[in-house]
Amino acid sequence: MSDVTFDREAWNFDCEPTLTDSQVLEFCREGYILLPGVVDDAVNERARAWLEGKIPAEPSFVPEGMTDQDMERIRGSHEPSTLFLETWFIEGVLLQPQLAGIMRSLLGSKVGLPILVSHHASQCPLEAQGWHHDADHVFGPELNFVEVFYFPQDTPIELGPTEIAPRTHVAPTPRDIEEGGVFAHGSAGTLGIHHQSILHRRGVSTASGLRHMLKYNYWRSVPPEADWIREPDFDLQIAEYGGHNLARYVAHMFYWLHGRGDDYRIIGGQAWPWKSPNQIGKPYGYEAKSGYLPDWRKANQDGYTRGG
Ligand SMILES: [Fe+2]
Repeated sequence: MSDVTFDREAWNFDCEPTLTDSQVLEFCREGYILLPGVVDDAVNERARAWLEGKIPAEPSFVPEGMTDQDMERIRGSHEPSTLFLETWFIEGVLLQPQLAGIMRSLLGSKVGLPILVSHHASQCPLEAQGWHHDADHVFGPELNFVEVFYFPQDTPIELGPTEIAPRTHVAPTPRDIEEGGVFAHGSAGTLGIHHQSILHRRGVSTASGLRHMLKYNYWRSVPPEADWIREPDFDLQIAEYGGHNLARYVAHMFYWLHGRGDDYRIIGGQAWPWKSPNQIGKPYGYEAKSGYLPDWRKANQDGYTRGG
């Protein structure tokens, strides 16, 4: 894996992308990528101590216009974003090499670093939360930011890791509290990369202990242009976009990531991007010049909107 370049002034980073066409499409389809236990233990321990007020703050710089009072207030809040000013956190967590390569693949070069953290500290055991899409989520083909969960302590299923419902980042998705999902569980230092709109909740916990979870976003600063590892034999016509009511959105997002969002048209029915493993030829309707767009706003009964 190549080096990560950090630009403190611009508050961004760059590195080589690490995802392939298939893996980028998989993110578009499933809505998440889990990296269990990838942050160093010494860093996880320090993060817990910092969050619990057991070590002093050592910011590498003070953002312009901020007073010591501001810094203290922020650290003491449920959004202790001054954590991002600690060199060990920047190097060990924000720029963790596997995460950096993935963000670079999904968001292009000069990835904007997070400026706000949400700290969820839960005294377990606790009941499961209800399934929800977070505030201000947007359903659309654009991928302008990508969210991360960071768990600085061992977070087995018993400690109620965040539970994610795959493939739910494209539409409002009701889900019964009894129904399970995929747990972002793992040893200390687990990172859960996900689409901010995905349906999720804090899972039920049966063990006792304090569960920290930090949540923050990485940002796009350049237009999308399929700037990841290209597979020479990757074929968009027969790629796997998901089933009914999903494929049309996933393919739109994948086209947008190629910088081709405006070219995207679909004709419906059994046509591309939907497909079945039992068909004997490539799907019809690929690269249609006129047709429809998926109705992201859900205003139309059939789920399509006129695309010209
Ligand atoms: Fe949430």
